[in-house]
Formats: sequence, structure tokens, C-alpha cells
Amino acid sequence: MSTEKLAATAKAIVTAGKGVLAADESNGTMSQRLESIGVVPTPDTRRDWRQLIFTADGFGEYISSVIMFDETIRQSSDDGRRLVDILSNADIIPGIKVDRGTHPLAGAQGEAVTEGLDGLRGRLAEYFDMGARFTKWRAVMSINDKTPSDYCIAVNAHALARYAALAQEAGLVPIVEPEILMTGSHSIGDCYTATERTLARTFDELSAQGVDLSAMILKPNMVISGHEAPDRATTAEVAERTLTCLKQNVPSDVPGIAFLSGGQGDEEATLNLDAINRMVKDEGAPWEITYSYGRALIATALKTWGGSAANVEKAQNMLLERCRASSEARSGAYSSSGTII
Ligand code: G3H
Repeated sequence: MSTEKLAATAKAIVTAGKGVLAADESNGTMSQRLESIGVVPTPDTRRDWRQLIFTADGFGEYISSVIMFDETIRQSSDDGRRLVDILSNADIIPGIKVDRGTHPLAGAQGEAVTEGLDGLRGRLAEYFDMGARFTKWRAVMSINDKTPSDYCIAVNAHALARYAALAQEAGLVPIVEPEILMTGSHSIGDCYTATERTLARTFDELSAQGVDLSAMILKPNMVISGHEAPDRATTAEVAERTLTCLKQNVPSDVPGIAFLSGGQGDEEATLNLDAINRMVKDEGAPWEITYSYGRALIATALKTWGGSAANVEKAQNMLLERCRASSEARSGAYSSSGTII
């Protein structure tokens, strides 16, 4: 596939007013989420949940693209339509998570490396044939007094770049996700430093391995205090630190940045994204800035559904409400009262 076509897909993923839904929880994680609402996890109940999301009327007004898990891209709805076709027919770009999760990093103390490069070329070709047009790979780094180590950052950045190069070769736009976890009591300053080190190394590797930056999306964490930090930074500080860190470390060739929510509450993730985009309105930025949220979009809807067919419409409305709020925040036009300003 031509680079122009890949770049056009990357731009479409971060198109104005829309963002990405990360519906790519592994079977293990999705099963835990279903158990938490009293639903027995099976391929069918996981399918029922994804079907509820993908068939929500108006979902495509706010969502440009959806990241799926391997099981989901192979599934069909209860009336026999392939889930990937339901998305494509609604002009939503289907995507697929291709990493194989995080594993203990040899010789490191409690750090992780993301695996999944073996056989990746073949899997990417199969996903393209199934209709996927973009992919995701997530690396995680945690903050404590010794981490993230240079070693952990280096191996994960190297793997992210190898994945991204293979994805582009297969005609798929790579979403490159180096995530600094919010777990812990670290300050926003610690997060800034870890994020900066990680982004710098990741872009060094992407360049060294010939990845076309105009045909990828960056999915970073916001620069934010740890969950248990004693004095968590304000929304204004998060916006200021995040935008500064990105401007100093993300090349302008990258068309878009789509944040993960990383365990922020729905409203927190929305307000932070809104504050970042308000700053962008004032001072400009070379890339589109949007959302690629999982939990911050689906948490309330999942609880509302509770596994009951009778609650599907209500849950879809909750989902659309969070999508609408995120879409407003993506334009720096969110108010918690729900009024566009
Ligand atoms: O890899 C992480 C997911 O794609 C985003 O999920 O918004 O719940 O952190 P999250």
C-alpha cells in the first residue's frame, strides 16, 4: 500500500470531532470486567457486549475507529453479521491490537516487556485480509525510585518500532502506545521525566527503523500525578505539562496524538483532554489531539448493561453520552453541564 494511502488513513483516525474507542481488552481483562457486573464470561457474552457498542445508533458521529481484540474481529453478531463489517458499514475504521501482552523483563526488577513480534508479519497479513486498517501495540513502564530503567525503555521502544515498521509494510497504520502507568504515588514531575525519556527513545527507534511518521498515530499517557499521589496536580497543570512534553518530544510529521485514559475517571479524562485542546486553541500544535479511551468511554455503560438485554438501549445511551463528551473535549468545547461552548 502506498504511503499516501496509509497517511490518509492515519489522518482519518484523528479526524475533527472524533476519536478512537479502545475495545481491545484481552479475553482475560474483558472476562474480569464482565465478572465485575455479574455476567459469566464466555465468547458469546464478550460478543454481546461488543455488539452493543458497535450497534449504538450514532456511535460513528463521535468515533472514527475502533481497536478490537483477536477474538472480536473473528466474531459475528447474533443476527449473523461480521462485527468488522458492522463497523465498516458505519464508516468506522476497524483496527486490531497485535501485541501479545506484557511479560517480565529478564534481569529487571519488576519491569515488563511487550511480546508478540514472532510471527507478526503473517498475523498482520491475516488481519488486513479480515478488514483491519490499523493496529495497536502497547508497552508499559511504571514509575518508582528506580524505574523506568533505561533498559526497559530501550527494549520496549525497539519493539514498538519493529512492530510499527512491520505494520506499515502490511498496509496497516500503527498506533504506537508507550504508556507510563498511573499506578503509585509519583508526582506530575516524575511522570513528565519518565514520559519525556520514553518518547525521546521511542522516536529515536522509529526513525532508526525507517517508520514513516506521517503514517502512524502516537497513543501516549497524559503527564499526570500517580493515582495515590498526596497532592494530585490540577487539570490546568496536567494540560500545561502534557502539551509542553509532547511539543518537545513528538515530531511534527506525526499527524495525530490519541491519548489513553489509563485509569482516569470518565470525567477526569474528559476535563483533561478538554483543557489540553483549549491550550492548543490558544497556542497551536502541529498534530491533532484526540482520545483513544477504553475505560473512560465504556465503564458506565458496562455497569448499566449488567448483561441484560432489557438494558441494551439504556447502556448504549450512556456510551453515546461519554462519546459525545469526549468529542466536545477533543475540540476544547466541553462543559460538564453538557453544553457546547
Ligand atoms: O491500551 C490501553 C487501551 O487501549 C486504552 O485503555 O483508556 O482504559 O487506558 P484505557
